[in-house]
Amino acid sequence: MTDTAIETNGLVKVFGDNRAVDGLDLTVPAGAVFGVLGPNGAGKTTAVRMLATLLRPDGGTARVFGHDVMAEADTVRSLVGLTGQYASLDEDMTGRENLILIGRLLGFRHQAARTRAEELLEAFGLTPAGDRLVKNYSGGMRRRLDISATLMNTPRLLFLDEPTTGLDPRSRNQVWDIIRAVVSYGTTVLLTTQYLDEADQLAGRIAVIDHGKLIAEGTPGELKSSVGAGTVNVRLRDAAQRAEAEKILAGVLAAPVIPGPDPVRVTVRVPGHGTERGAAEDAAKALSALAASGIVIDDFSLGQPSLDEVFLALTDHPATPQEDAA
Ligand SMILES: Nc1ncnc2c1ncn2[C@@H]1O[C@H](COP(=O)(O)OP(=O)(O)OP(=O)(O)O)[C@@H](O)[C@H]1O
Ligand SMILES: [Mg+2]
Repeated sequence: MTDTAIETNGLVKVFGDNRAVDGLDLTVPAGAVFGVLGPNGAGKTTAVRMLATLLRPDGGTARVFGHDVMAEADTVRSLVGLTGQYASLDEDMTGRENLILIGRLLGFRHQAARTRAEELLEAFGLTPAGDRLVKNYSGGMRRRLDISATLMNTPRLLFLDEPTTGLDPRSRNQVWDIIRAVVSYGTTVLLTTQYLDEADQLAGRIAVIDHGKLIAEGTPGELKSSVGAGTVNVRLRDAAQRAEAEKILAGVLAAPVIPGPDPVRVTVRVPGHGTERGAAEDAAKALSALAASGIVIDDFSLGQPSLDEVFLALTDHPATPQEDAA
């Protein structure tokens, strides 16, 4: 079916005795961002390289828009873009020259390559830097140029392998805007990331992989619900009422208080937030119990579990990216 961008069945890649990808079953719907989350060494890049036909699978099958990555590698290659694949940017050329050259290599006539280069420079906020040598670009500008190079010929499927790792928050946001724009033009994006907030912000669906296997898949909301725990947060008018408020909340919600430094804030972890109904019931119970005891509150909120908590629950290790020696 054409509305499936990627389908893998039992995909395997072995390096020596290391099963880097170990029987991966993945279905990626077309037309959105699909996030692949996993810690260092989970097998994300290896999986992407197989899907982009750069690495030969040792077992299982993988199809891209219905085309087998091994039997129909040329067709697959014509449908996908991988950041870094074509984008062997020449440091001693300007950003504009690089894009025009890549366009020429892809078979564009000079004027068409030029026009496309201008569009991309504009779209990626690189017009003012278009005449600068790439070796003088900042990390964020470089990353944006990398992505724009892969977009010279609009691929149906774009692989972005950790496109924002190491970027400052502003550059990250710019890359996020680009990804949203790419999807709005109809390209499916497979995004690998170690940043859960990134997947949360961008991805319609997320696959969590660890040790080469799929361990969870769903919308960000579904993944959060699967962990269940959320929080009830209360800000008290009077810090002197804190001990009593903690006692009441812990009792009525039958849940532990999470210690925190703020003397007027009480946070209780509750299991009931897998569903909206559970959250609403917790909220009602908490508010009426506090009101009945004469405890005045200034603010009240319900917190969903973060994807970080989801990740920890699923993998037994946190998703904190380690600093790469760059
Ligand atoms: N060319 C290779 N030769 C041997 N082992 C490899 C090779 N490429 C990857 N590996 C190993 O395969 C496993 C998966 O690596 P991979 O790069 O796919 O992980 P990743 O999820 O992309 O990690 P990261 O978040 O650090 O990029 C790791 O144990 C890695 O050491
Ligand atoms: Mg990787």
